[in-house]
Amino acid sequence: MGSFIRIRRKFISTINCLNHVLNKFKEVKLGRSILLLLLANLLILLYPEFKWPFTKDTILINIRDVDTFERTSPLVSDWLVRSYFPKSILQSIFVNSSIASNDSDIFHTKVYSQINKQYDPRLLPALWINSLTQYLKDSPNDVDFSLPFSWSSFLDIQSKRNELSIGVDLSVLNCEKFSSIFNIDHTNVSRVCTSLKNSPKGYPKFKIIGPIDDTIDENARKVIGLSYMLHGAPNPDRLVLLGIGPNKSGISIPVNEMSKRNAYSKSDLSYLISKYINSIPQFNVSIPSTNSIILRDELRQLHNYWDQFEQNISFASPYNFNHDIFQFLDNNSEIPETKLDDFYFDVDETIQLVESRVKRSYDGNGINDFDRRLLSVINDNLEFMPNFTKYFHEAHCLDTKKGAHYDWRFFKKITYSEYERKAILHRLTRAWLRFANSAGLSTWLAHGSLLGWYWNGMSLPWDEDLDVQMTSESLYLLARNFNQSLVIDLTDNFDDINIGMGAYLVDVSSNFFSRDKGNGYNSIDARFIDTSTGFYVDITALSYTEAAKTFDTKGLKSLEFNRMLEPEYLEKEDSNTVDSEQLHQSLLFKRDDLIKQRNIFNCRNNHFYTLEDISPLKRTMFEGVIAYVPNGYKKILEREYNRSLLLKQFEGHTFRPVLGLWISSKICKRDPIGNQCFHDDVVLEAKYTNSMTTKHKVEMRSINKAPIIYSKEDELRAFRSDPWIISRCNSLRNIIENL
Ligand SMILES: *[C@@H]1O[C@H](CO)[C@@H](O)[C@H](O)[C@H]1NC(C)=O
Ligand SMILES: *[C@@H]1O[C@H](CO)[C@@H](O)[C@H](O)[C@H]1NC(C)=O
Ligand SMILES: *[C@@H]1O[C@H](CO)[C@@H](O)[C@H](O)[C@H]1NC(C)=O
Ligand SMILES: *[C@@H]1O[C@H](CO)[C@@H](O)[C@H](O)[C@H]1NC(C)=O
Ligand SMILES: *[C@@H]1O[C@H](CO)[C@@H](O)[C@H](O)[C@H]1NC(C)=O
Ligand SMILES: *[C@@H]1O[C@H](CO)[C@@H](O)[C@H](O)[C@H]1NC(C)=O
Ligand SMILES: *[C@@H]1O[C@H](CO)[C@@H](O)[C@H](O)[C@H]1NC(C)=O
Ligand SMILES: *[C@@H]1O[C@H](CO)[C@@H](O)[C@H](O)[C@H]1NC(C)=O
Ligand SMILES: *[C@@H]1O[C@H](CO)[C@@H](O)[C@H](O)[C@H]1NC(C)=O
Ligand SMILES: *[C@@H]1O[C@H](CO)[C@@H](O)[C@H](O)[C@H]1NC(C)=O
Repeated sequence: MGSFIRIRRKFISTINCLNHVLNKFKEVKLGRSILLLLLANLLILLYPEFKWPFTKDTILINIRDVDTFERTSPLVSDWLVRSYFPKSILQSIFVNSSIASNDSDIFHTKVYSQINKQYDPRLLPALWINSLTQYLKDSPNDVDFSLPFSWSSFLDIQSKRNELSIGVDLSVLNCEKFSSIFNIDHTNVSRVCTSLKNSPKGYPKFKIIGPIDDTIDENARKVIGLSYMLHGAPNPDRLVLLGIGPNKSGISIPVNEMSKRNAYSKSDLSYLISKYINSIPQFNVSIPSTNSIILRDELRQLHNYWDQFEQNISFASPYNFNHDIFQFLDNNSEIPETKLDDFYFDVDETIQLVESRVKRSYDGNGINDFDRRLLSVINDNLEFMPNFTKYFHEAHCLDTKKGAHYDWRFFKKITYSEYERKAILHRLTRAWLRFANSAGLSTWLAHGSLLGWYWNGMSLPWDEDLDVQMTSESLYLLARNFNQSLVIDLTDNFDDINIGMGAYLVDVSSNFFSRDKGNGYNSIDARFIDTSTGFYVDITALSYTEAAKTFDTKGLKSLEFNRMLEPEYLEKEDSNTVDSEQLHQSLLFKRDDLIKQRNIFNCRNNHFYTLEDISPLKRTMFEGVIAYVPNGYKKILEREYNRSLLLKQFEGHTFRPVLGLWISSKICKRDPIGNQCFHDDVVLEAKYTNSMTTKHKVEMRSINKAPIIYSKEDELRAFRSDPWIISRCNSLRNIIENL
């Protein structure tokens, strides 16, 4: 049953004024550009279909750009916070009016005309929140609220398509031409491609309705992902907006069917904009500055609403919800205690449980979408157990292995600068941790992410994803209640310029209920995917299975397993006084004993753990947000990475303890500890990460004696600005300079 929590809270926010003007020039690799131009000319002669290559995407943002960004002029900052309404939408609402053309306000008119076509990730969240606040004010006692949604508006597929630098006129392509231009296996394309009779101007004459696993050209990948999102992808079931409720709770809002029919339409966006406009009496479509919405102002208004009276909100356990309704999510208070039962998952028992819940809700005439859907997914897939086809697909591209780190649907491009990668991973990680805490999931850092945490509380600089593990119980909850949630993290302060960057799709594998390795295609149980880049969190659950029974202590891959059974395994194996046969006998004995107690769990990639390895979870901080690590993190890391805990050199980087940072071994070679490294990039990196690395040092010093107990208030501001907002700032600055 839900507990009732009264909330009364004032939000004091200050607006940071940012000063100075941005750097004028960017590094351009001149030689390569000239070569490209020559090549492009040649191609235009050969193929009339080729267009001029678009070069914008190739400008990468590095940490020095962040420094100049942080010193933006107040004029630019004022425009930077605004999300402008697309002119095309306003034109469809105000048919015969002159839109945003105030001759005496040339600045705003020019800015608007150039920036309104650019995709702005904050626009829809700002409109959603405006719509919610209006709803609450009109009907405070009855929250039957949902929002319209379309991927077409959300990913702004129209303008993303315009940005594609593929040099091919998409509108002349059908399935056959597409596969031959990009040299992709015809049969493999035809399996998931349908040619279309008509498509709007500029759109391809085909649609992609499923994944292609072939290793192909990067540009073909972009087209495939966008086409699928437009035509094949189901809408998310709900929006989970973190941090917008009373006392920074999350809110889950069902998505309604309004704009599902036409793939290309943006009817949800026009609807929300009209609604917003109607609520502003002084709105005048001719005035450019009013043709925008400011996310931070909308957030402030919603919080003012919560503050007006004492809130009486119930946070029911997620298990008590059977279908999507407007609900608050807050589960940040307790450290989840993991028990043996949480790692026990039996398909037949689960089916019985879910069936009985479905039946009970029919008897009582209740709606039970959650259990009904889960049951049909399990029943549809059960016959393939344990060798399922692959559920998650990546964006494999020619000439690189990096495609494996991007989800194929949301793939944007291959190459990011180190700064961009860190910044994207930073917001992805923070959003995942906050989501997990709000949803009450027992989850902890694993693999490379755990190793990163150990050193400095951040991801390793060469990491491309976040790795987490959870109990089988939490995976079940994730599958039942949160599959196909679109999560947006709005927890940070309103004045944070990065607020509203990033939206993440929760996707749980349809074969999550099978806990065996099978053919090895499905070691990942769920993903939390960044919809603007395809970066993801790999989520794997641990369960008690039969796998340990057949796991040999003498096999090739048994070193980690043996060290799980016996932390001193290596020393004993090397020792002259220990008999090897006896050692293996004792390992097998331990193994069987653990099996008997059901105290040996594995993921579907056969990493093994005991309850004592995991529990009790340690509450800590990672990338500035509350996170959990396993109790036996040291043992776990030692056996997975061998001597990693001692090695300060890894992947071409050296850990410099004074800075608390992994720095490329090529930089400051003579300064292994990092107290004399004045390289520009290093100084900036140290400045931005100092709050986190310092906290981590203090925490690790006392972790075994008097552990620090963090609360939500201890969380740090985002310390890496998002590449999108930095590019936006650069565009605005360019517009001003060219006025
Ligand atoms: C708001 O959250 C904080 C931190 O979790 C908690 O200490 C406080 O009691 C909450 N306030 C209310 C009114 O629930
Ligand atoms: C817009 O202008 C056109 C031609 O001037 C006219 O035919 C049409 O009725 C107008 N539409 C509206 C909604 O006023
Ligand atoms: C046009 O812009 C000028 C300068 O910003 C402003 O003073 C004026 O009020 C604007 N016109 C209207 C009709 O708002
Ligand atoms: C076509 O797809 C099949 C099955 O997914 C795969 O084995 C094959 O390698 C693909 N062909 C190419 C050229 O990639
Ligand atoms: C909107 O602004 C324009 C000038 O930009 C002005 O001519 C017009 O009267 C204004 N409309 C309203 C309804 O205030
Ligand atoms: C809060 O809700 C409970 C249960 O519905 C009710 O008894 C209580 O009076 C409410 N308190 C306020 C301040 O509305
Ligand atoms: C928080 O999650 C735990 C399970 O992890 C659950 O037992 C508890 O009821 C939840 N609390 C709230 C307030 O949702
Ligand atoms: C999650 O949603 C996707 C898309 O609807 C579906 O294919 C998949 O089977 C779902 N997973 C579960 C566990 O329900
Ligand atoms: C599943 O695949 C594995 C590995 O390819 C194989 O050893 C096993 O026999 C298969 N099981 C079934 C039931 O097909
Ligand atoms: C692991 O580290 C030990 C020393 O602690 C070393 O002897 C051994 O060769 C290493 N094994 C691997 C696989 O790196």
